[in-house]
Amino acid sequence: MGMFDKLLANLKASKKTIVFTEGTDARILSAADRLLKEDLMGVVLCGNADEVAAAAKAGGFDVAKATVLDPLTYQEMDALVAQMVELRKGKMSEEECRTALQKSNYFGTMLVKAGKADALLGGATYSTADTVRPALQIIKTKKGSNLVSSSFILFREKDGAEEKIAMGDCAINISYSDRVDKDGNVTLTAAQQLAEVAVETARTAAFFGIDPKVAVLSFSTYGSGKGATVQLSHDAVIEARKIDPELTIDGEFQFDAAVSAEVAKTKCPDSKVAGQANTFIFPLIEAGNIGYKIAQRLGGFEAYGPILQGLNAPINDLSRGCNADEVYKMAIITAGMA
Ligand SMILES: CC(C)(COP(=O)(O)OP(=O)(O)OC[C@H]1O[C@@H](n2cnc3c(N)ncnc32)[C@H](O)[C@@H]1OP(=O)(O)O)[C@@H](O)C(=O)NCCC(=O)NCCS
Repeated sequence: MGMFDKLLANLKASKKTIVFTEGTDARILSAADRLLKEDLMGVVLCGNADEVAAAAKAGGFDVAKATVLDPLTYQEMDALVAQMVELRKGKMSEEECRTALQKSNYFGTMLVKAGKADALLGGATYSTADTVRPALQIIKTKKGSNLVSSSFILFREKDGAEEKIAMGDCAINISYSDRVDKDGNVTLTAAQQLAEVAVETARTAAFFGIDPKVAVLSFSTYGSGKGATVQLSHDAVIEARKIDPELTIDGEFQFDAAVSAEVAKTKCPDSKVAGQANTFIFPLIEAGNIGYKIAQRLGGFEAYGPILQGLNAPINDLSRGCNADEVYKMAIITAGMA
């Protein structure tokens, strides 16, 4: 479990508390039991106390050390509603905020915002959109970021060595288009947004011990194909170099040119990234989501993520098909990055 060393060191250095939005789910309870036994973090479980206790008993899990908070009986709900109304000023009424806070995705997110916890992990039953939307609306993008995106860290052992790669964005931004203000002026181009995804994914990769060599992917290599998404990938490389001139990034590349030294020799021999890329940026969510799952299912990689990037606090989403071990590891990733 080498890739978790830094996260575990962080958790030992300073105790964090994580909120699980689905406090009665057996996979969550199993992971919570393990996290508490190993004293890795404090745990808040959202849900009705009797239901949480019954589910824990049914599964044989010990979560006595967890704090159980029920949005329907929470003592400080009025303060939480007031804070949310202020945060959603003009966008959600008091009634809408109160209704939203009865659901544990919004309630859990507001617990993080109110400082009752450091991190949140949800999505065992909520969809990605329903887990991420409260974070986008309440936690918001951190200073210096224009958008929230995500990456996956993929890990496998090959010939006795660890192999780690990063991929983004496979889970949040469906596509990229220029942002315009009310007067029709472009405030952030699509390429600038994809560039930010590339820079953030490289940072996440570096956090996990990857020395990022970033390839912005396409169906074209250095202009061999034409089209709007080819241009987007091409322009994103230029924009990313403006954001971080130190970043080792290149493209646009087809995947084979990005990873195969032989193909790179033919298609782009002078590139410092082609043939040796380890951080892959996709121009559309379809490509990214399909791509990481191919690596996972056919390439034998373990996939960790989506790890959200650009938010003011660590909030992550589980796959609804996750198992208890994945919840445990994602909790370490989420709280360990706090
Ligand atoms: C993330 C997602 C849910 C946001 O969609 P949405 O809720 O329709 O977003 P909206 O456009 O209504 O925006 C809601 C708020 O989030 C903000 N937002 C949306 N996308 C954002 C982004 N990428 N970064 C930062 N903020 C964002 C909006 O600005 C808006 O804020 P406001 O209410 O304060 O004005 C949507 O992009 C999505 O469904 N992505 C794919 C998720 C998925 O299914 N992944 C595959 C499985 S892993």
